Order: sequence, then C-alpha cells, then structure tokens
Amino acid sequence: MNAVSPIDEARRRAGPPLWLLLELTYRCPLHCVYCSNPVEFARVEQELETHEWLRVLREARALGAVQLGLSGGEPLQRKDLEEIVAEARRLGFYTNLITSGIGLNETRIRALKEAGLDHIQLSFQDSTRELNDFLSSTRTFELKARAAELIRRHDYPMVLNVVLHRLNIDHVGEILEMAERIGAEYVELANTQFYGWAWLNRDRLLPSREQVERAEQVTRAFRERVGERMRIYFVVPDYFERRPKACMNGLGSVFLTIAPDGLALPCHSARMLPGLALPNVREASIEWIWYDSPGFNRFRGFGWMKEPCRSCPEKEKDFGGCRCQAYLLTGDAENADPVCDLSPHHHLVTEAVARAAQPQETEKPQVTEKPVLFYRDRRNSEMLSLS
Ligand code: FES
Repeated sequence: MNAVSPIDEARRRAGPPLWLLLELTYRCPLHCVYCSNPVEFARVEQELETHEWLRVLREARALGAVQLGLSGGEPLQRKDLEEIVAEARRLGFYTNLITSGIGLNETRIRALKEAGLDHIQLSFQDSTRELNDFLSSTRTFELKARAAELIRRHDYPMVLNVVLHRLNIDHVGEILEMAERIGAEYVELANTQFYGWAWLNRDRLLPSREQVERAEQVTRAFRERVGERMRIYFVVPDYFERRPKACMNGLGSVFLTIAPDGLALPCHSARMLPGLALPNVREASIEWIWYDSPGFNRFRGFGWMKEPCRSCPEKEKDFGGCRCQAYLLTGDAENADPVCDLSPHHHLVTEAVARAAQPQETEKPQVTEKPVLFYRDRRNSEMLSLS
C-alpha cells in the first residue's frame, strides 16, 4: 500500500472555504497609513469583470461558502456592487459590505438594500476630524458621519470598525463616545496588524504597552457603563502577546480571499509570500484552487513546520501563528511566528515593543507636526514597487 504524504493527508482533511472575501478593487479614495493592501497595489491591473465575480460566487457557494465579505480598496468604487450583492443573496450567502462609507449615498444604499445586502461595516479613522483626515490624507470625516446616518436610516445594524495604533489609541474613550452618539451596536477596536502599508509604517504606528493597557482600561469602564447596548471588541495587538494568533485558523482551512485581479489567496497578505504558487480564478476553478492547488496546500496540516513548532504541543491551537508575519520579520514563512516567545526570533518583536516604549517626536499627533509616514497612494505604490 502506498504511504499517504502529509500534504495529501492535509488536502483530504480540508473542509470547505466557509469564509469568502472578495477584494473587489484596490481603488480607494482614502490613503490610510495602516492599510493592509499590498504595497505594490498600483501594479495590479485588470480587475475581474462582473461575470467573473459572479462565477466565483457560484463556484464558492457550491463548495459550501456561506459568509461573504465585500471589501477592497473601497468596494463602492465598483459600479456593479449591487449586481454582485444580488447574486450573492440569490445564492444564499450572508453578505457583509466592508466600507469607508465614501461613495455611499441614498441611491446606492437603497439599491444595495433591494439587492439584499445583509450587513454594513463602516470604518472611522478617529473621533476627531483632524486625525481622521490626517490618517487618510483626505477630508472625509463629515462624509463618514453622513454614511453612518444613511446606514441607520435604512435599518442596518450600526457596526463600526476603528483601527487603533499609536497615533489614535489615546482617543479610545472619545472614539467610543462617538460610537455611542452614532448609535453603534457593535464596535470593533482593531489594533493595527502589521502587513502592507502598516508594515512600512510600523515604527510610527506601534503603540507602547502603556498605551495599550490604558486603552483596555478605558474600554472596560465604557463597557460596564453601556452594558448590552453596545458590544465592543478590543483586539489586542499581537506584538504584546506571548503566543501567536491562530491566523486564518491555519492557511487553507476556512478563509478564501480573491484579489481584484482574480488571484486566489489563503489570506489577504499572501501575495507577498515568495515561492507560493498562487492560482488565479481566470485560469482555474474554485474547487481546484481550494482543494488541489499547490498554493493552498502549501501550509495545510503540520508537515511544513520547522522546530520549535513541529514538536510543540500547542501547534494544533495556533498553527505556528501567522505565515505572513513570520516572513516579514524573519524572511522565512516556515519559521514560527516571532510573536511566540518560544521562537528563536522573538527578540525581533520585543525589540520593536521596546522601541515603542520610547517617546517619539510627536507624542501627541498634530497635523502641524507630521511624523514621517507612507500614505497608501498610487504614487507611493509605484515608487515603492520599483525599489
Ligand atoms: Fe497571512 Fe497571517 S496574514 S497568514
């Protein structure tokens, strides 16, 4: 009898791609300094056409996908968003629009509602116009407030997402008060994950441990005051943990992301992993991509692991952490995520945290004293893709 290889075994055990994320476009009116889109997004051309997105939906649903995220860039930049939502609804997906709110108006929200959109997650950069506009390099604070009002008027649950980092984390109390004024039912305070543009700007965005602890305290007190009225999720930055997050629940386990150009990714950042042969939906079926493509099988199971993960009793819990973080920090995606204090590279994380404890030239973010940050825009993307 032939022995079954660890890769074949992992493939055999793979469940369906329950979570499908369509990054419909990398076009975006905002230029956020913590954006997780690839730095070289300007090089990505030829977005999928409507009929191609619809085929992706049909094939993924046939495989068992149920949750659908529509993001970008800014998904409202796609004129066919309503058509995509309608097809997703017809197929039985639960649909979630992940948006900055820019481009949302009465006509579009009405059309999205008619198409069957279930859920909208609106992002804010900060509670103040000054910092909101500074971080996104736009004047969009009032537009977001208007988008929130439209979402409320059209009877969607109010779900806000605010990415936290060194420059706004001290405003967490004011951010929560703003959420309360807007009538938010769910608020996700997501500390920045350092990929894409956030990785470039990491040393300017990583908060100090003291800032994180203060923000947690403020959040706890706020939670006690508002009780069940508002659910608040505070996602602690993993640089401050001793064990890594089970990123994507292990690559190729439940998450399937399709990038604007049709590249299929086991996580939104995987485009940068060297040697990962990623398939494109223009050339292959979702079924083949998910179950059979080398790219999606590369990090399934435990056979790819090096020590200390390979013999670690916790490997089935955290899957060795995040492959993208391991690659960015150590240059090798097979290494243990350095967030883990068992990793021989853990010092790379503790050194970054130690640097973050030092005061920077702008302790209080002020637009007049701009720290050096890379904005996510086309010009920077083109310049950085060349270097
Ligand atoms: Fe790619 Fe964690 S973001 S594996």
